[in-house]
Amino acid sequence: MIVLKTEEQIEGIRKSCQMLCRLLDSLDGRIKPGMSTRDVDAYCHEWILAHGGKPACLHYEGFPAATCVSVNEEVIHGIPRKNHIIKEGDIVSVDLCINLKGYISDSARTWAVGEISQEKEKLIKVTRECLYKGIDAASQPHARIQDIGAAVYKHADRNGFGVVRDYCGHGVGLELHEDPEVPNYTSPMISNPRIREGMVFAIEPMITAKSHRVDVLDDGWTVVTADGRPSAHFEHTVAITHNGLEILTQI
Ligand code: MF3
Ligand code: CO
Repeated sequence: MIVLKTEEQIEGIRKSCQMLCRLLDSLDGRIKPGMSTRDVDAYCHEWILAHGGKPACLHYEGFPAATCVSVNEEVIHGIPRKNHIIKEGDIVSVDLCINLKGYISDSARTWAVGEISQEKEKLIKVTRECLYKGIDAASQPHARIQDIGAAVYKHADRNGFGVVRDYCGHGVGLELHEDPEVPNYTSPMISNPRIREGMVFAIEPMITAKSHRVDVLDDGWTVVTADGRPSAHFEHTVAITHNGLEILTQI
């Protein structure tokens, strides 16, 4: 069931999203070789608490950290670890959810650490473009949810990249994962509701260098590419208001 949000609820979610945007902005230039993924998590966790929020990922279905930090072939849901040291040439995705006064925001970005390969450079660029293609599709009059996936898929595919199918975007705002599912591809097996005022959802392309196939590590969370090739992830929370689509996690 899709829960449409009131203007007041959207204002609460907007505040949570703006806070998350500031936190992600503050990560620019902060992810350095020699840091552990656990250090990235500690920074984000402390920042959220210092700004009056709660990390919404922590303990969500048993997730053991405030932040998902996914490096190179890790696609999403990377569990931060003290012995996972970030090095020059890595790409690092940070996916964060904040609960601010009961309102949930969700956003992710992928950063390059120092000099990276041309393939990784292109992967980051195309994944970011996929997110904005999806947002643009959702902004059209009479758009439906699967118009997003059609746009994301087309852009990734024409660049020779894979689109992860096992995980999707989702409604968000009052809970971390709400209806509808927001896939990055199209399928007659998945609902395809019309996008309308009051909807708040997360669009989150997860794009791989080659095969879209993924596995989950023995830790039960970390999703990795089956072929070990790199992957990137960008995510925004958006709302549909009387003025149209608003990207909430972008100030
Ligand atoms: N943005 C992530 C998602 O939509 C949040 C995951 S929190 C976790 O799946 F606890 F599930 F890791
Ligand atoms: Co999400």
